[in-house]
Amino acid sequence: MRVPLIAGNWKMNATVGEAAELVREMLGALNRIDNVEKVVCPPFISLTAVAEIIKGSSVKLGAQNMHFEDRGAYTGEISPLMLAGLCQFVIIGHSERRQYFNETDGIINKKVKAALKAGIEPILCIGEKLEENEAGRMAAVVSRQLELALADIDNLNGTIIAYEPIWAIGTGRSATGQQANETIGLIRQRITNLYGKEAASSIRILYGGSVTADNIADIIKQTDIDGALVGGASLKAEQFISIVRQTAENSGS
Ligand code: PGA
Repeated sequence: MRVPLIAGNWKMNATVGEAAELVREMLGALNRIDNVEKVVCPPFISLTAVAEIIKGSSVKLGAQNMHFEDRGAYTGEISPLMLAGLCQFVIIGHSERRQYFNETDGIINKKVKAALKAGIEPILCIGEKLEENEAGRMAAVVSRQLELALADIDNLNGTIIAYEPIWAIGTGRSATGQQANETIGLIRQRITNLYGKEAASSIRILYGGSVTADNIADIIKQTDIDGALVGGASLKAEQFISIVRQTAENSGS
């Protein structure tokens, strides 16, 4: 039984004060919804403030990125050791990190390993570009990203995958539930080939890309989709609460 997970990726939005206000606005309602794992991922600078506010609730905390080294001369970076104990989750390899910060599959592989070593559950993002999708290369691109990100990792326990087609992120053009389910089914099949049936049937695979309160029901009712990574709609308390509530009501996995 895979517990559905909804994670809000706030990206580079909200000051510390605004982050505190946003999580306070959501907390009561989120806390009352069972059978869904609820995660907010504010910017680094707001993690401790948000952690303080959600303490004792069922809402959990994630970071949006981290370095793979524990310490050292890496100006401006945040390490797994700094996040461990504060965050239960960390988003790794988001397409914006790949695109704007030159994160390669090799770096992402190191980060996934570092997160697992630190006891933080990585939410590993993979997904194809529009031109790759149009050229019919979606399955090849996604399989390759998956294999490279998981290279030399023997045990997937605690790993979460997020399928985020780049053409759907921040565009308002979400994949349909059926489209997303087909690709996520392919990803699960790849995991079966790499790690066996048991690992594939227990790993959670999320969909991300323009998820809103209007399309979550169609997405979450699909058999292979175990939740969503939500960007824009996670910045509006009402939208995010509605997404989590509909997930609790409609989850098909
Ligand atoms: P979006 O972002 O929901 O705004 O499309 C999703 C993501 O980048 O994780």
